[in-house]
Amino acid sequence: MQIPDHVEAGIQALASRKGTLNCYLYDTSTMREKIERLTRMIPPGVEIFYAMKANPHPAFLTAAREAGAKGIEIAGLGEAEKAVAAGFPPAQLIYTGPGKTPEELRWGVEHGIRTIHIESLTEAYRLERICAELDRTQGILLRINANFDIHEAQTTFSGGSKKFGIDEEKLHAVLPHILALSHLNFHGLHVYAASGVLNVGDLIKNCERVFDMATTVEAQHPEIVCDIIDFGGGFGVDYLETGRDFDPVAYADGLKELIDEHGFSGRTFFLELGRYLAADSGWFCTEILDIKESRGKKQVICAGGINHFRRPAALAINHPLSIVRMGRPRLFDGQESVCNESVYFGGPLCTGADKLANNVYVAAADVGDIAVFGYAGAYGLSMSNIEFLSHARPDEVLID
Ligand SMILES: Cc1ncc(COP(=O)(O)O)c(C=O)c1O
Repeated sequence: MQIPDHVEAGIQALASRKGTLNCYLYDTSTMREKIERLTRMIPPGVEIFYAMKANPHPAFLTAAREAGAKGIEIAGLGEAEKAVAAGFPPAQLIYTGPGKTPEELRWGVEHGIRTIHIESLTEAYRLERICAELDRTQGILLRINANFDIHEAQTTFSGGSKKFGIDEEKLHAVLPHILALSHLNFHGLHVYAASGVLNVGDLIKNCERVFDMATTVEAQHPEIVCDIIDFGGGFGVDYLETGRDFDPVAYADGLKELIDEHGFSGRTFFLELGRYLAADSGWFCTEILDIKESRGKKQVICAGGINHFRRPAALAINHPLSIVRMGRPRLFDGQESVCNESVYFGGPLCTGADKLANNVYVAAADVGDIAVFGYAGAYGLSMSNIEFLSHARPDEVLID
């Protein structure tokens, strides 16, 4: 991985200070550029929301707001509060995810958030009751667990038995109940197929199937229009550095064609993007504390592990890695180092699961150098086991 010069300079400066380096480094200028670029290329009616679960740091929320994101996709009250604190009014929040508590739903209704995405009939009835108590109505989308999946994705959110949404084949039975709830304003469908998709064709196929679904729903219920259709997130990033990046131009063109073909212009389409917007705006930088040879393989032990950067272990993939050489004096003659070999990187936790990377080829590394993991701006700290072993929280340092 090639670290941008200013990021490398930032790491060198931080690592030269007293104390062990273990931090996330953020430069949100890439995220800003991506939002601005996408906004210019997407067809009219398509609105970009930042899925803040990728990175809830205020700098990312501010970047999203200043770059023109339409709002924030939230999945809980904690996220709602952070989004509002970063300057997004509640009317710019859309609320997704299974298992919303009555308190969270009440907050959403009381504060007038834009849409609540219903994940089950129970949730619909719960929300209806809250709205009735408050004498308010609430805009909703219905989340569907579509009957197809995207095979190449890192994680799938629909197809098969899933905790997300209502099974597509149950839609015809469930929808009449939801439409009968007088405090819920039905706006349309939400189908989020998969995350980490690099093949644009797969995501466009998903959009086409969702459009077909909306067309069927409208044929069965002439009294309603799906005036909002939410495709979720899913734009991938090239973690494995294969040179095969997600192509947003192809996506925008494909979506425009579909909108025209289906006569859906004038409607609103939501994209809730997390990974694609945030991943390449962050690096996890952790100092190498130890290197030892163990039965034929070097074990490189870093200051932070899955408590600070869990994603590689959770998804069983290596993130791109670079070593920033610090040239620190050796502690003793014969101290191990890494030289042109494939090694294991782990953290300081007392579990074999504490893996940062495995079988990763490294040209040179010494104790005191900084291991830098790329694409760590999304699902880095936000999905880590922060409390495990009670180590200090890593710093989050801004360099933009
Ligand atoms: C409902 C919902 N929307 C959007 C996203 C963001 O997905 P991605 O980071 O793949 O863009 C997620 C991720 O889990 C999600 O659950």
